[in-house]
Amino acid sequence: MIELSHVDYDYPGGVPALRDISLSLDKGHCYAVQGPNGCGKSTLFRIILGLAFPDAGTYRFGGEEITARSLRSEAFARDFHRRIGFVFQDPEAQLFCSTVEDELLFGPAQTDLPRDEALARTEDYLSLFGLREIRKRAPFTLSGGEKKRVALASALILEPEVLILDEPLAGLDEDSQELMADCIRRARSQDRLILCASHDRAFTGRTADMVIRMGKNHRLIGMEPVGGDQLSEDGKELR
Ligand SMILES: Nc1ncnc2c1ncn2[C@@H]1O[C@H](COP(=O)(O)OP(=O)(O)OP(=O)(O)O)[C@@H](O)[C@H]1O
Ligand SMILES: [Mg+2]
Repeated sequence: MIELSHVDYDYPGGVPALRDISLSLDKGHCYAVQGPNGCGKSTLFRIILGLAFPDAGTYRFGGEEITARSLRSEAFARDFHRRIGFVFQDPEAQLFCSTVEDELLFGPAQTDLPRDEALARTEDYLSLFGLREIRKRAPFTLSGGEKKRVALASALILEPEVLILDEPLAGLDEDSQELMADCIRRARSQDRLILCASHDRAFTGRTADMVIRMGKNHRLIGMEPVGGDQLSEDGKELR
């Protein structure tokens, strides 16, 4: 589903973020991306979301190469963006409607879903995510955890094939963490592909089945099943 081949990425000014990343990711799995601060996890997600493009190497989604040029086709870009949902590390950056209910309705209203179905689905997701009481509130007035729940509901309402979660637990209380874990497990059982960067090993142990480990040098250390042998930075097994 997602294929990266020898991807390099630098930020302007030559700040290295990704070095020679090759990955092949399939549906029905939840991949936990682990590595120290600044190793390139969020940058990897920006590439997968088509918000940044490799300086070298290639990125394919469902067999199609994703480049600045391929996303210039409006129909192709719309289809691609609809297939990937995400919750950013800072959800503030992705909420822009004037009420919570509009935020949820925004995605379905952009698709060819009939209006009454889009409204019905919005009601379902407001209930599912415990957002009914705050449905008329402006997203920017919500607490951090509430914002995250709205962002997650807005991502899942489109039932995307791929779900990207960058530090999904930050700011969440126990109930909301459980809701997040349930969402991931359900998405996995529905044959979606989930990518999740979290520093919480207990959480990834409960939700992910594969671990992708990145090193300080912005390179891949390896990918292994959850519960398998842990590799250290230099690739040696830790016991
Ligand atoms: N907008 C930017 N401009 C310049 N450099 C950036 C930018 N965003 C990130 N970087 C740099 O790129 C590198 C990778 O950053 P990235 O945010 O991908 O790391 P991360 O693994 O997500 O870290 P964290 O665990 O702190 O979220 C870091 O050295 C960072 O300082
Ligand atoms: Mg990050």
